[in-house]
Amino acid sequence: MTILVFDSGLGGLSILREVRAVLPLSDIVYLADDAAFPYGGWDQDKLIIRILQVITRAIEISTPDLVILACNTASTLVLEELRSRFDIPFVGTVPAIKPAAEQTSSRLISVLATQGTVKRQYTRNLIAEFADEVHVRLVGSESLAKIAEAHLTGGEVDLDIVCRQIAPCFFEQDGARTDIVVLACTHYPFLTNQFRKVAPWPVDWLDPAEPIARQAKRLLARGRVEDKSVPTSSIKSDGKADIAKFTSNNPPPASVRLVSGFGLHVEV
Ligand code: DGL
Repeated sequence: MTILVFDSGLGGLSILREVRAVLPLSDIVYLADDAAFPYGGWDQDKLIIRILQVITRAIEISTPDLVILACNTASTLVLEELRSRFDIPFVGTVPAIKPAAEQTSSRLISVLATQGTVKRQYTRNLIAEFADEVHVRLVGSESLAKIAEAHLTGGEVDLDIVCRQIAPCFFEQDGARTDIVVLACTHYPFLTNQFRKVAPWPVDWLDPAEPIARQAKRLLARGRVEDKSVPTSSIKSDGKADIAKFTSNNPPPASVRLVSGFGLHVEV
């Protein structure tokens, strides 16, 4: 059973690690559209064309049983279109506004995302549908995805910049304070230690990775796709490792090292 995990870059690895925990026997093809990274500032129409092309080609080549769009910026744009084009299940990653609205005690939550995701109608619809009794603040960051990539590949994180980027997430109203920040970009869970260091007060940083992996498992079970491979670390019984592909065809050595730490062998 093959699962295609897609992101603009390395952020989807935060979803991949949960998929491994929940579906340890699956074969993974991880696709990073690094040639177009970051997606956050792209023009919406051009980005839709780009993502549909890249994913369509990847599906033709890898013939996955299921696709996980491990990217909020992409899911809020093309999830429905992909579902209508292909006869395989897609699991999207969209801002976890519904669970945050259910879990908040203060009724003040923030959604930390790329600038693209906070602008999307899809995100506004989630708020209208699931959080109309909660004050939701949308916070778009232009640099956190890049900071996360730099951090993942061995770079220093400038905590002052991180502090400035997350500061708008923290607000008070009638004596209450934000108690949940939704991590609505798959890169951000890799920065939660830094977020905690500079946050003005403790909050719950909501990462949707585990529910996404569980949803993938449910959909595969519904389609009765059986997992027949044998778990033997990242090298499968057929001698092949899980695969990572980069649309640049030329990922930096630090990215190659990183994904191999996640059990992925880079294929060009
Ligand atoms: N990881 C992506 C997301 O979940 C996007 C980061 C970017 O390319 O700007 O939104």
